Amino acid sequence: MRLCHLHSSLAVGILWALLVGSMDLKTQENLLLKSLGLSVKPSPRSPAPVPPLIWKMFQTRTVPSPAGKEPRRPCWVEEFNVPGNIIRVFPDQGGFIHKREQGWLCLQKRLYFNFSVLEEGELLTMAQLEIKFRRNVYRGSAPAHPFELSLYRASQLALRGMSTHAYSRQPLVEQSFIHLHKSLIFNLTDVAKDWQTPTKNVGLILEIGTPTLLDGKLCSDIDAFLDTSLLVVSLAPQQCKNTRKKRSSYYTPISTSNICKPRRLYISFNDIGWENWIIAPKGYMANYCLGECPFPLTEELNSTNHAILQTMVHSLDPEGTPQPCCVPVRLSPISILYYDNNDNVVLRHYEDMVVDECGCR
Ligand SMILES: *[C@@H]1O[C@H](CO)[C@@H](O)[C@H](O)[C@H]1NC(C)=O
Ligand SMILES: *[C@@H]1O[C@H](CO)[C@@H](O)[C@H](O)[C@H]1NC(C)=O
Ligand SMILES: *[C@@H]1O[C@H](CO)[C@@H](O)[C@H](O)[C@H]1NC(C)=O
Repeated sequence: MRLCHLHSSLAVGILWALLVGSMDLKTQENLLLKSLGLSVKPSPRSPAPVPPLIWKMFQTRTVPSPAGKEPRRPCWVEEFNVPGNIIRVFPDQGGFIHKREQGWLCLQKRLYFNFSVLEEGELLTMAQLEIKFRRNVYRGSAPAHPFELSLYRASQLALRGMSTHAYSRQPLVEQSFIHLHKSLIFNLTDVAKDWQTPTKNVGLILEIGTPTLLDGKLCSDIDAFLDTSLLVVSLAPQQCKNTRKKRSSYYTPISTSNICKPRRLYISFNDIGWENWIIAPKGYMANYCLGECPFPLTEELNSTNHAILQTMVHSLDPEGTPQPCCVPVRLSPISILYYDNNDNVVLRHYEDMVVDECGCR
């Protein structure tokens, strides 16, 4: 059997190689990782739980869009109405500058999100900061007084000396809040775009205080319950090039005939040893194309005029001209939820992962 890589995405091509067993395992794994946009196999050390919103987004993507509704736009994140195929949640890695009872200030802390996992050429389209408190802090019988929150851009100086004034006193945002059980959401798209240049990513300074009371004792230890993360949507254009017509289909007929047809193939991430970093799905129905493209080619074989001519020539001169190839002509996407090498939760959309239809080309 000849190998036919025509018209297939890299991932599908690699699956073919897996089936034929023409490469050693390490090479196959590296190629498959590369086709998924990863340079090394992630090995999470202390992965955080998947945020509920990300789970929900993943689950929405595992079911085909309901009949009558527009199919989902590839490389578009409906939830935020922005282009993108990668959604990452970065936990905050900044340290505290001051904790508690500095006059009116409850806490002063650096926020830092390590963007080193963003690849060259990735286009950041949205960044949203979420500040929440893991527990509704007990505030006794004290009357509810507002907290005041401010965010500043940090400067290099601020990171070393940490003098209070070593950063721009021009706040990016200022907001008061009373209830600690509500998440505070801030749009940091413009700020985060700069952070793709590592030298510019010095983070932010977060201050929370009670300026109206000038008494840090009313801070209710909120520093201990602070939970800050940054949700970033980006577009890796090299994985969004495909414009072929697609159909979401999870049904593939089983066939015993040797005519070119999609064949069932379930790829289990457990079987390839990826269960420790791929959160979901556990595997997926990738399928592949296999079979003859005999003369005369019928319409069901989705041939091109060129392939029809090629089978004719082949039937006249079998030694000199090969049969056309049985290759994927229609593929559908899948989404994968995983931990990257920095323990961030990533939801990523991949085009052309499932073979829906085959043809002779
Ligand atoms: C960001 O993450 C990379 C990769 O894990 C690491 O090498 C680098 O030191 C981190 N940067 C900072 C400032 O923590
Ligand atoms: C966030 O800010 C960017 C840039 O200022 C803007 O284009 C975008 O519409 C904002 N997004 C939301 C959800 O407000
Ligand atoms: C060719 O396309 C048709 C519909 O466009 C489909 O029903 C058929 O299964 C395809 N043929 C193969 C071999 O996949």
